[in-house]
Amino acid sequence: MTRPDFTVPSVAPERLPDLLRAMPKAELHIHIEGSLEPELIFALAGRNGVALPYASVESLRSAYAFTDLQSFLDIYYAGASVLLHEQDFYDMARAYFERAAADNVLRAELFFDPQTHTARGVSMQTVIHGLHRACADAKADFGIDAELILCFLRHLSEEDAFATLEAALPLRDKFIGVGLDSSELGHPPEKFARVFARCRELGLRRVAHAGEEGPPAYIWSALDVLQVERIDHGVQAIHDAELMARLARERVPLTVCPLSNQKLCVFPDLAEHNLGALLDAGLAATVNSDDPAYFGGYMNDNFLQTFAATGLTAQHAYQLGRNAFEGSFASAEAKRGYMAQLEAVFRRFS
Ligand code: HPA
Ligand code: ZN
Repeated sequence: MTRPDFTVPSVAPERLPDLLRAMPKAELHIHIEGSLEPELIFALAGRNGVALPYASVESLRSAYAFTDLQSFLDIYYAGASVLLHEQDFYDMARAYFERAAADNVLRAELFFDPQTHTARGVSMQTVIHGLHRACADAKADFGIDAELILCFLRHLSEEDAFATLEAALPLRDKFIGVGLDSSELGHPPEKFARVFARCRELGLRRVAHAGEEGPPAYIWSALDVLQVERIDHGVQAIHDAELMARLARERVPLTVCPLSNQKLCVFPDLAEHNLGALLDAGLAATVNSDDPAYFGGYMNDNFLQTFAATGLTAQHAYQLGRNAFEGSFASAEAKRGYMAQLEAVFRRFS
């Protein structure tokens, strides 16, 4: 998308946090099951008669001390076990949208993991209808444009992914695309080459987690084999100069999740996060929350903590905002509207 140039006004450093809060945002990497707060997990467990291996909200929260992706995923899948009925999925997404609205999110593209639920006997219809109704209400009640992206769990088989796609196709009008998530190492993108080829034929948008813990080779194969349009995470690209040049040249959006990376020990410390390096190299990086209930923050927390820890500027903030709107799967007309709102807020802070 080409736009007339916008000169980012200089913003006094003490006003940067307020600008970050006020900025209109697009969230492109949020696993809706990762927005289940401990309080809601316990409320749903009570409502549905599901036993949890934790005595209280506090003891569950105190288990959120992760060492890597897998240590998180084990607890994340356990948390999702309280979701049984359509209303549960609605309530979970509704709670996320309330938080997103408070953080000035204008557009949200929500990942969901149907296999986590269908494996427990919950139907695809239950999952998608509950989430889709919450998306429709998010527009009506908060003005948020929300869409769904169905993710395949990469630790499961290609056959299971195909069966999941088949089960979802009667509801094809209720999701815009597909993604690939769960345990990355040992499950390269090419394991799902045929599934993604079928999704491409069906006209579905395509994204994949790659280069969170996995090597740059997984980013190459997500692009070349799966033909994805965005890379989720992608921070390991920094170790491959040729890949960095390609991502910059092709303006491939990277949906970076700084607090997630910190909590899963992808970087030893938030201050050492490479978001600034990715932006300065010309990559279309964005900021997202990933699993906000588990990683200690929603969109504004991610922006505020990352900027405070790494010293990013208003120029970076503008670029992040613009990258997210342009990298979204919204219509060209909607993108123009989002960009006008982004620039109006920056003008207000000059
Ligand atoms: N990576 C992979 N799978 C996931 C994640 C993640 O950060 N969050 C939820 N599922
Ligand atoms: Zn993720």
